Amino acid sequence: MESLKKKIQVEGIVLSSEVLKVDSFLNHQMDPSLMKQIGEEFAKRFRGENVTKIVTVESSGIGPALMTAYEMNVPLIFARKRKSLTLKNDVYTAKVFSFTKQEETEISISQKFISEHDRILMIDDFLANGQAALGLIEIIRQARAHLVGVGIVIEKAFQAGGEQLRRRGIRVESLVRVQSLKDGKVTFLEEVTAQ
Ligand code: G4P
Repeated sequence: MESLKKKIQVEGIVLSSEVLKVDSFLNHQMDPSLMKQIGEEFAKRFRGENVTKIVTVESSGIGPALMTAYEMNVPLIFARKRKSLTLKNDVYTAKVFSFTKQEETEISISQKFISEHDRILMIDDFLANGQAALGLIEIIRQARAHLVGVGIVIEKAFQAGGEQLRRRGIRVESLVRVQSLKDGKVTFLEEVTAQ
């Protein structure tokens, strides 16, 4: 997705050879017109898959996931990381370990929002080690729902998550794939565009 690549090139800040800061348009301040384009692109790529629900994890996944849900005219459910006052029993939960933050969180989704009849599209802002995705996959498994695929805004292809998911036979569509963040520079892998 060229507009996203351009945005990353102009506004992205390489913090280290592992971390790309994109807080001016994706995960702190959000660019609504870019989010709209992102939603349209995911909707185009997963058109014909009869998606019934979008799922993501709070908080930075919510922007792109909501725009995708809007385009596909289906609800969005975001997994909560914090215990909610109203989210008590009857929840599906999974543990997610963040290598970046070196901490474990528990994510949860109310059982009433996912069922075995659902065809789920998972959307997230970053794919690094894939732990958040694996947590959501575990929740989808518990609900006996069907995972149609995973849509990622920025995949860091030099980390293991993408390969791990694809090896499991999961369809992963990344809008941009970053090959390297070495020497303070963002290098992209060839983008696979939808037909
Ligand atoms: P994983 O789920 O793919 O294993 O990711 P990892 O544990 O490595 O990352 C944990 C958090 O850091 C996630 O956000 C993820 O989106 C974010 N992250 C990973 N790599 C980068 C990066 O290069 N740049 C930025 N800006 N973020 C990155 P989170 O903890 O779920 O936080 P949030 O969604 O509330 O922002």
